[in-house]
Amino acid sequence: MSFQLPAEFKSQPTPFYYYDLALLDQTLAALTAAARPGNFQVHYALKANSNLPILQRIQQAGLGADCVSGGEVQRALEAGFAPNHVVFAGVGKSDAEINRALAADIFCFNAESVPELQVLNELAAAQGRTARVALRINPNVDAHTHAYITTGLEANKFGISLSDLAGVVDGLDSLPNVELIGLHAHIGSQITELHVFANLSRKLNELQTWLEDRGHQLPHLNVGGGLGIDYQHPDTNPIPDFGAYFGMFEQHLVRRPSQQVHVELGRAVVAQAGTLVSRVLYVKESQQTRFAILDAGMTELIRPALYGSHHHIENISSQLPALAYDVVGPICESSDTFAKAVQLAETRRGDLVAIRSAGAYGEVMSSSYNLREKAEALYR
Ligand code: LLP
Repeated sequence: MSFQLPAEFKSQPTPFYYYDLALLDQTLAALTAAARPGNFQVHYALKANSNLPILQRIQQAGLGADCVSGGEVQRALEAGFAPNHVVFAGVGKSDAEINRALAADIFCFNAESVPELQVLNELAAAQGRTARVALRINPNVDAHTHAYITTGLEANKFGISLSDLAGVVDGLDSLPNVELIGLHAHIGSQITELHVFANLSRKLNELQTWLEDRGHQLPHLNVGGGLGIDYQHPDTNPIPDFGAYFGMFEQHLVRRPSQQVHVELGRAVVAQAGTLVSRVLYVKESQQTRFAILDAGMTELIRPALYGSHHHIENISSQLPALAYDVVGPICESSDTFAKAVQLAETRRGDLVAIRSAGAYGEVMSSSYNLREKAEALYR
């Protein structure tokens, strides 16, 4: 099986993002079915893809929203997410962003430092409100993923380190406009070794007991996001194994009666539903290398340039036997390379190329570098 582009899109100006809404719906159905038995509350991480047609479907499927900026909080509300289904994380929330989220009366702030808690307290007091807060802890658990998207190690900037936690918790007494309702952790993204979620669960179990000994009963635990997808085989594994993911927490996280467990998934929800479609501008053969030069580049999809990440690439116009190509974009940087020595059906100028699994962290990370125009989004 290979990628099928709906016929009506074959003559669209390229590059464009194509979103398969039927696959998104199937993914959401699988996700909500897997979350239901354990009553997991799923918040979609808007940072992965914040296009309104996608958000509206996700909201209609009953998910909440996980935001990391004032802009994302606003977008979530525009898309119809109820404020009490919105959480707001981030290591550097500005006063304006906090004020906006307080005014909207969102469900919870995931707070990452003492100074942030103090600011939350002051700004909430000024609005005559109480900020509900989950402490984002840095559990020092290795997510076994790319260094740039590892967030739960002591060396990372995220969360409150375990050695500081006692001081932070004791200090809460002096913050009357902050209400502690939970613990939060997010250890990284594109996690494929699910046992790391067992390690995270064990750490949270210890911390909960420790907090209870200090008189804090927490109604909420938020274990973050991070479930990875299969970039190598998007057609064989279009939908992540949500059952196995929730199973790790069912098995290893010790929940208190009536305690709610929240997750914040981004990539696993939207990645496989998005494809970057581009046209081959030129095929250039040097002595060493055969280049397929596309009209899409790192401005549309920066993941290969930034993380060296793999996206499956197909020539969807050619039926010819395969040859090896370096697939590159038009941007003035050598890092503007999607793949090296990849096998593609023999490629000619004008062929359409599909760059798969681009629904998450694709369009949202695009830029106008080189004064490029924004690629359109097409849905079906
Ligand atoms: N919650 C928090 C606090 C996060 O920082 C993130 C992602 C998520 C949830 C959602 O994680 P997911 O389920 O999508 O793995 N640009 C990178 C990924 C950065 C992820 C940042 N945080 C990439 O293209 O791989």
